[in-house]
Amino acid sequence: MPRPTKVSAAAVRKAAAFIRGGGTVVFPTETVYGLGADALNAKAAARIFEIKKRPHFDPLIVHVSSIRQARTLAHIGPEAEALMKRFWPGPLTLVLPKKKIVPEIVTAGLDTVALRMPADPTALALIKAAGTPVAAPSANRFGSLSPTTAAHAGAQLKNGPDLILDSGRTRIGVESTVLALRDGKFFILRHGGLPREEIERVTGRLGAALKGGRRPASPGQLLKHYSPRAALRIIGKTPVRLRKGIKYGYLAFTSRPAAAVGCFRILSRSGNLAEAAANLFSHLNELDKAGADVILAEPVPARGLGLAIMDRLRRAAAR
Ligand code: TXA
Ligand code: MG
Repeated sequence: MPRPTKVSAAAVRKAAAFIRGGGTVVFPTETVYGLGADALNAKAAARIFEIKKRPHFDPLIVHVSSIRQARTLAHIGPEAEALMKRFWPGPLTLVLPKKKIVPEIVTAGLDTVALRMPADPTALALIKAAGTPVAAPSANRFGSLSPTTAAHAGAQLKNGPDLILDSGRTRIGVESTVLALRDGKFFILRHGGLPREEIERVTGRLGAALKGGRRPASPGQLLKHYSPRAALRIIGKTPVRLRKGIKYGYLAFTSRPAAAVGCFRILSRSGNLAEAAANLFSHLNELDKAGADVILAEPVPARGLGLAIMDRLRRAAAR
């Protein structure tokens, strides 16, 4: 595994050269780190699946540096264009009818492609310098926590990428919100960094989030996902009974736990959901590293970024 390289103009040029040459690069976005390859090169995209140990039925998000570039990849109607103009660059992914140019492996054979223009300056510079759209899932091993630091990405992708670009911790900390357009109506496929309420100001009421389950509308929405190594339990109304011999970690929302647990982390002392989202994966990772067998997680309010946080906690808790 290459050591992370601090972001600089030279490092971005080098990363872009790897992408153009069919290689893979870990790079920061404002949500989480991504593992990128040339989206128009099927062989390069295939390496992503190999490195992540990701099943081939789970399609990738294609990252672009402009709406113009997005048009080369998908059919974009006025509804989608309005959202792009309002929220790009930013943590919004749109699933749209694909054009032929996008290789099947990228979309897992679907007739749609997921597109996003990231806001992170390094990500944008990389896509521009590569001169090609960049397919990139989160830079974690399939099913594990998404990385919010370069080191966390590197630790998960042992024999993988050609280069790891490091620009410190990501700002948002949870993945982008994924929206699909069906029969002129948008649906949330994955809650994420762009809160539903903000999207609804443009679209009006969104269709209910499509459920996961055995045949999820979005192949990546398997119930068990985004998991720490430790087992995770979301605390309900009944008080928790701690069992002897088990090392507990505790993920609190705003204040330290009353229960006598080995280690704990607080998502946001002021109850700020954006701060909580930014801390979510790194705190879970730290509780893992502290050796917790079971992580007890407090629920957070289900609004704004709280929707994305609760979605990730529920998936981590699924078994
Ligand atoms: O914030 C993010 O979105 C990060 C950064 C790196 O941009 N990327 C990311 O990618 O989270 P990934 O691959 O971990 O998640 C992409 C999600 C998956 O749930 C996948 O199934 C879904 O998007 N997806 C991709 N293409 C799709 C399609 N054509 N139809 C439905 N769902 C799709
Ligand atoms: Mg992922």
